[in-house]
Amino acid sequence: EINQQEYLSNGEMKPWTGASHPVLSPVYIKTAAGLERKKIGSYPVCTEQEAMEALDAAVVAYDNGRGEWPSMSIQERIDCVEQFTRRMIDKRDEVAKLIMWEIGKTYADSLKEFDRTVEYIYATIDALKDLDRQSSRFEIVQGIIAQIRRSPLGVVLCMGPFNYPLNETFTTLIPALIMGNTILFKPPKHGTLLHYPLLEAFKDCFPKGVVNTIYGRGHAIVPALMQSGKINVLTLIGSSKVANELKKLHPKVNRLRAVLGLDAKNAAIITANADLKVAVEETVLGALSFNGQRCTAIKIVFVHQDVVDEFLELLSAAVAKLKFGMPWEKGVSLTPLPEPHKPAYLKECIDEAIAHGARVVNEGGGQIEESFVYPAIVYPVNEKMKLYREEQFGPIIPVLAFQDLEEPIQYLIEATHGQQVSLFSNDTDEISSLIDPLVNQVNRVNINCQCQRGPDVFPFGGRKDSAEGTLSVVDALRSFSIRSTVATKMN
Ligand code: G3H
Repeated sequence: EINQQEYLSNGEMKPWTGASHPVLSPVYIKTAAGLERKKIGSYPVCTEQEAMEALDAAVVAYDNGRGEWPSMSIQERIDCVEQFTRRMIDKRDEVAKLIMWEIGKTYADSLKEFDRTVEYIYATIDALKDLDRQSSRFEIVQGIIAQIRRSPLGVVLCMGPFNYPLNETFTTLIPALIMGNTILFKPPKHGTLLHYPLLEAFKDCFPKGVVNTIYGRGHAIVPALMQSGKINVLTLIGSSKVANELKKLHPKVNRLRAVLGLDAKNAAIITANADLKVAVEETVLGALSFNGQRCTAIKIVFVHQDVVDEFLELLSAAVAKLKFGMPWEKGVSLTPLPEPHKPAYLKECIDEAIAHGARVVNEGGGQIEESFVYPAIVYPVNEKMKLYREEQFGPIIPVLAFQDLEEPIQYLIEATHGQQVSLFSNDTDEISSLIDPLVNQVNRVNINCQCQRGPDVFPFGGRKDSAEGTLSVVDALRSFSIRSTVATKMN
């Protein structure tokens, strides 16, 4: 068990004496009382006052852009981040194991999450060097010598999601930091302890107050931070509802920059001309990797009516081959879910779909054992069901048949979200005719492959309520800075 007894604020590891929150792993064990989630530790629950002190430390460290950190040269900031990354790499196994225990991600995927994060940091450093080279150039326009560069924005409140608690926290935190902003970060509720081994490195590698952590119940501490008006950038990978509520609390919302990765209901469209073997393989990956708990997951599948029976048969057979187990076991891809409410919610979605005329196509689909839910293929889904529009964020594959390609396109037009689509077809004319209608609704169209965020240099964002701003390597550096001009008149 790891019982975290300190947190990082104002350059100090502050001893913790207040309330603690127990961390229960999704991994469950048999006890005399039945199946129980294993307790793996606890973390501090900061009070509003402690959170405000951490915020004030970030404000002082920024000092309206005159602080030590924003005043450093880009190379000096890069040196600090590189030093931090070397320290981080030493903790690879410890952090990956904590990811595994806290959110039930397989150990292999937890290591991948760690390595992808390190690669992302180095890619960010390279991209920053490029940006800096561009900023070092002078232009002469109409007798004015101009240097166009990028400046930091201030204090960034950074909150990552439970499904990539390290990676998606760092894909905002690192670019925000390296651009010269100061940081207040709150790890996700499921995925907190894994940051603990890194706090000492944050403390040692950055000036006092540049990186501060707060822990505990978001609804109890984050509103006060927003209301203070001292947050310059809100960055959150999570729900649209929470992001909107938080933004509204800021007293000068027009001065707040938001960099947000939010809800999505990504569709796969499988035409009559698709290679069904490819469509099935990619749908399984897209819909069920990490048990469907990815914002980029395929969350609804439109299949042409001529091929839907064959598709369902192949999909059921592919799902039946997936192995369930505990996250450290080899060859396992389905694991227990970290959010305690999720099994009951998924059951409710399935039961409601059945009540409206759908069925679970695959044997055992939707069965629950404590925090584990066996994937369910639900067909035919219609607009009366939650599964039609709601983001299930779990192992359910809702399927419906279409006659005309206009039907899935209309679905996307009416959607409140617009992140990604996967289109499966082997007819190049058909693909060409669909690219524009699709790309006008979503941020990324994947042809004959699953929806996903990577490679990380690709722009990652969304239309409508799916995002604000764009993430990825260079886009993130831009998102956490502002273009500014130094103009000198030639005499
Ligand atoms: O949950 C949202 C993540 O951005 C998904 O990332 O597509 O690499 O799994 P991924």
